[in-house]
Amino acid sequence: KEHQSKAARIKSMKGKQSVVSLTGYDYATGRLLDEAGVDLILVGDSLGMVVLGFPDTTHVTMDHMLHHVAAVARGAKMALIVGDLPIHSYDTPEQAVENAKRLHEAGADAVKLEGGVRQQAKVKAIVDAGIPVLGHMGMLPQRVLEEGGYKKKGKSESEAEAILEGCLALQEAGVFGIVLESVVGSAAMMLTEKLSVPTIGIGCGNANCDGEVAVITDIVGAYPWFVPPFATVRANVAADTKAAAIAYADAVRSGEGAARHV
Ligand code: KIV
Ligand code: NA
Repeated sequence: KEHQSKAARIKSMKGKQSVVSLTGYDYATGRLLDEAGVDLILVGDSLGMVVLGFPDTTHVTMDHMLHHVAAVARGAKMALIVGDLPIHSYDTPEQAVENAKRLHEAGADAVKLEGGVRQQAKVKAIVDAGIPVLGHMGMLPQRVLEEGGYKKKGKSESEAEAILEGCLALQEAGVFGIVLESVVGSAAMMLTEKLSVPTIGIGCGNANCDGEVAVITDIVGAYPWFVPPFATVRANVAADTKAAAIAYADAVRSGEGAARHV
């Protein structure tokens, strides 16, 4: 099936080609990223923060994800589309399979979930149901409230070994790749060397992973109120949008358009 061969292609890029990944949340962005030749578009639950205005990803629901996965899928035809399983949508293997199927029916080629050893049975169940799974290790944003903030992971050798154990459990369960988030560079490199599936890094330093993922609003400067320190801002969408709105307001108020000058 096409969605499975797209995921297999990403897996086979390890050691040959860098996996270019970006988040996307809507039709236009999905279409633009696809036209730009991005390998993997992640409809991440970061949606909750940068699009829906929640303080963290723990507010995101399956209904939110389905709505946005469908929009991206209408725009992107070439890239692998990965949909995040939001918090509490995969508490049991049965629930994980059911919700992975719903994301797939909405247009996701694959799904992503957070965590290692404790998710192994769920990953295996989803893969057995024919839906490719991307892992996510290191900083797990769905646990930010328990952890009391966004922290670097893999600082000590024992923490790095625990992450490796989780990654190996995911690999054994059949993931086609693993996102590493905020893992210190040396640990990310160790994981990249020991794993046979591609690691896709965010906040893991330079040249330590097989690929990279970034949040689209970070790199285009569309969400100026918080920019993670590791993000490279490559455009100024927020500034342009605000300037266009101000220029428009000035034009309308001075009678240049359809409104009367009063
Ligand atoms: O939701 C998201 O955007 C993510 C990436 C940061 C990996 O999970
Ligand atoms: Na996410």
